[in-house]
Amino acid sequence: MFLLNKQNGVSDLVINRLPRYYRFLGELVAEGEKRISSRELSEKMGITASQIRQDLNCFGGFGQQGYGYNIDMLYEEIGKILGLDKPSKTILIGAGNLGKAIATHVSFNEKGFELIGVFDKDLSLTEKIIGELKINSMDKLEDFCLKNKPECALLCIPKTAAANVCEKLISLGIKGFWNFSHYDLSVKYKNIAVENVHLGDSLMKLSYRIKNQ
Ligand code: NAI
Repeated sequence: MFLLNKQNGVSDLVINRLPRYYRFLGELVAEGEKRISSRELSEKMGITASQIRQDLNCFGGFGQQGYGYNIDMLYEEIGKILGLDKPSKTILIGAGNLGKAIATHVSFNEKGFELIGVFDKDLSLTEKIIGELKINSMDKLEDFCLKNKPECALLCIPKTAAANVCEKLISLGIKGFWNFSHYDLSVKYKNIAVENVHLGDSLMKLSYRIKNQ
């Protein structure tokens, strides 16, 4: 029996590493591997074995002395910790270039999300299809949320539009944002889960590393 910590008190650094564990373990599952020691996992992932043990101990451990980790079980348990077994209903706001690319190319279902609605204020996009979903006008947002109760919103709108849209979405029960908009939501809303994505920041970090090698 393994204790699943509710993630309260678990540091962001540990949470940041969980998707990477999940990805590596998924590859091992696909290769038919059944068991791995923390040393072998550490060599594959470039993290120390003690870091791996510390990280997994936050959620109950999972390893057995002299055996290592049961790969199928660890993969499943990390998936559960990440909440992948209970997909969050999600809506996309902003069906422009970025919104279309994300709605079409991200495997939401494998990552703990179910994309159920797409909205854009541009009426020339209404009824057009993204992936398998019709784009709705923004005046449908409220009814849609009351009926379908999405928990998460994916923001692909300009920063200037984001403050008002976020306020509306939070009043409609949205609890988490995958935020591409460059609007810093977490300043105003402390209790909302936000994952900001700034591709440009990633590039600038790369620039720094290249110049400081
Ligand atoms: P786009 O102009 O192709 O699409 C934006 C869409 O948002 C349009 O369809 C527009 O009608 C819609 N929109 C604007 N205000 C709205 C509102 N109040 N409610 C609903 N829909 C609204 O722009 P693109 O290329 O898709 O980029 C979207 C935003 O994402 C841009 O502001 C850009 O700065 C940002 N971006 C962020 C990146 C990141 O790494 N975080 C990377 C690329 C873009």
